[in-house]
Amino acid sequence: METATLTEKVAAKTIPIYIMGKKYEVPETLTIMKAMEHSGYQYIRGCGCRGGVCGACATVYRKAGDYKIYTGLACQTVVEPEMYLTQIPFYPANRAAYDFESAKPTAETVYELYPELFRCVACNSCTKVCPMDVEVLDYISALKRGDLTAAAEISFDCIQCGLCASRCMGEMAQYHMAQVARRLQGGKIAPKAEHLEKMCGEIDAGTFTDVLAEAKKMTVDELKKVYTERELEPHMGADEWTPASNFGLA
Ligand code: FES
Repeated sequence: METATLTEKVAAKTIPIYIMGKKYEVPETLTIMKAMEHSGYQYIRGCGCRGGVCGACATVYRKAGDYKIYTGLACQTVVEPEMYLTQIPFYPANRAAYDFESAKPTAETVYELYPELFRCVACNSCTKVCPMDVEVLDYISALKRGDLTAAAEISFDCIQCGLCASRCMGEMAQYHMAQVARRLQGGKIAPKAEHLEKMCGEIDAGTFTDVLAEAKKMTVDELKKVYTERELEPHMGADEWTPASNFGLA
């Protein structure tokens, strides 16, 4: 009898999963997203980066014999035998509209936009469900006491998948609240980065216009060449620096 090749052995290893109640056999190494595609489903929505950063692919599942509801990102979660799953293409959650320019970077702004913040019963379901391990309840508590900076920092890894809102006992949209905090923090509370302002001023003043025009005329290979050959940390004085030298064009 012939011995199966390694490829055949690997290819043969499938497990049963249930997608919206229907049973499929899929390779055990696939993510939920790939297992669904392997089973014939096509993603029109509910799929974006495929790399765990866009938050589009929130998924819900149970395992046979286990009472718990599990959640995760379909592009990151590997299938398990007897997994019962479905996708959440979009979870409705109210998002308040506001004018960022006139919004004050204060707790009151958040309170006015999201008064439901105080419906939080501190059940911690939001934190448990977060696929990014964000301490959701902690940033909600920070918002309640008016600490926008803390809320912005704690929620920094949020990818807006909406799973926190899907499990919230207070029926809130935590991730939208945190986004307001991050915007106010980044735009109006955090100190300005002087080097960034300087660079933006130089862009506005047309410092890079000529060098950009020159780069636009190059072929892809020429661009690659000047890019790979550029000096990463130029050893030159400020008076020797030119826009062209910054891009490896001189
Ligand atoms: S597709 Fe972007 S997080 Fe999964």
